Amino acid sequence: MSLYSEKVMDHFRNPRNVGIIEDADGVGEVGNAKCGDIMKMYIKVKDGILVDVKFETFGCGSAIASSSMATEMIKGKPISEALTLTNRAVTEALGGLPAHKLHCSVLAEEAVQAAVLDYYKKNNIPYDEADFKCALCAHEHDVHGEES
Ligand code: FES
Repeated sequence: MSLYSEKVMDHFRNPRNVGIIEDADGVGEVGNAKCGDIMKMYIKVKDGILVDVKFETFGCGSAIASSSMATEMIKGKPISEALTLTNRAVTEALGGLPAHKLHCSVLAEEAVQAAVLDYYKKNNIPYDEADFKCALCAHEHDVHGEES
């Protein structure tokens, strides 16, 4: 039996929404320090809806499949829905990932959140920090919250 589901293999071999959005409204880049993989997510927003989503992933097959699936899951959806996308939902949609590859799907969740956060910041849109669970965002908040 293969270690990877057919869905994972499909999204790895034929990833959806690969590329960059030149005039993106938000860009999020996240990485995993351990494996060195990097994921970049681009979003185009209109009236609170993610009208376009693209990604570039310099990483393993599971990270590519996760980001591909994540873009499909949030494209055309309201931002509020994209922010509730969990790595678990991505993993489930992919038909599962081996335990040691779960962190790859976390990158997808974080990249989406980072892109939305970038969009909020660029447009001075107030946001609730509690909506951002990603490590990168949390770090940024820490930096912000630091007393000088
Ligand atoms: Fe690190 Fe997959 S091995 S993202």
